[in-house]
Amino acid sequence: MGPVRHIGVLTSGGDSPGMNAAIRAVVRTAAFRGIRVSGIIGGYDGLVNDHLRELGPRDVSNIIQRGGTILRSARSEAFRTAEGRTQAVATMARHGLDALVAIGGDGTFTGAKVLLDEHGCRVIGLPGTIDNDLAGTDRTIGFDTAVNTAVEAMDKIRDTASSHDRLFFVEVMGRDTGFIALASAIASGAEYVMLPELCQSIDQLVKELSQASRLKSSSIVVVAEGDEQGGAVAISEQVRKFLPDRDMRVTVLGHLQRGGSPTAMDRILASRLGSAAVEQLLAGEHGCMVGEVNGQVRTTSFAEAIGKRKSLQEDLIALVGILAT
Ligand code: F6P
Repeated sequence: MGPVRHIGVLTSGGDSPGMNAAIRAVVRTAAFRGIRVSGIIGGYDGLVNDHLRELGPRDVSNIIQRGGTILRSARSEAFRTAEGRTQAVATMARHGLDALVAIGGDGTFTGAKVLLDEHGCRVIGLPGTIDNDLAGTDRTIGFDTAVNTAVEAMDKIRDTASSHDRLFFVEVMGRDTGFIALASAIASGAEYVMLPELCQSIDQLVKELSQASRLKSSSIVVVAEGDEQGGAVAISEQVRKFLPDRDMRVTVLGHLQRGGSPTAMDRILASRLGSAAVEQLLAGEHGCMVGEVNGQVRTTSFAEAIGKRKSLQEDLIALVGILAT
């Protein structure tokens, strides 16, 4: 493989706050190293349909603070087909792209790995998802902002919950993992959290809520959207059968959690990892995701980043119950 002189950068899958900061870091580090960058518009679809635009350092001014992604994002159907991927590789060749930086979650890295396996393309990944569900990084870009958004909402819900002595079920995102749920439950002082990683029964939840109601007038139950008992609506309906006299409400936070200006923590993470992705490509690395582990930049193969399940912190799970006492 020849030297890296021209990099393509794309954002794919669900957007996350901090993606713009990552794009900026890729573009400016590349410029610092004398390398060209082209932004691919609309994720892998942009590669299939030849939708690119060259980006210089001034094209990424004033975006570090913006949520969403200036490159737009998509979950590409065309790229799932062998024909679509052949078109994508042809686009790379036509524009002289030597390597790609793919910013996204597990779907994005699955696509990157296929490009590598089928066509030998140089691709490096950046963990851009609010879900924090990738192995090989302690935090993903966007997770901290999403948690802060959820906590801000829960603080407001607490005000009205305690004014009316109500029980609230608040559903947060996270796909099939409970990282956002656990972090936001701790930070908002929730009484209970339902996590996909645990086998929690409705009986147990009802028992805990009944005990809590003797001490407290209001309670918040944070529900991870992927919980096996169902979402917040389904769980509240089951609980209502056991506690018919309890005044309860449901709030589904939804896509609110995906937007907004990234926190300083997400901006710093995105800047650090975006810059490291370019440096790693120049050092000959590819086929991996650049993450942060114990404060250090680390690379992890795509296979491991998407194949290995990252665990929730056990002590935090226990802490929700202890601090709800
Ligand atoms: O992966 C990010 C995420 O926001 C998940 O938390 C959620 O399950 C999913 O994307 C929602 O996807 P969509 O935007 O397609 O509804």
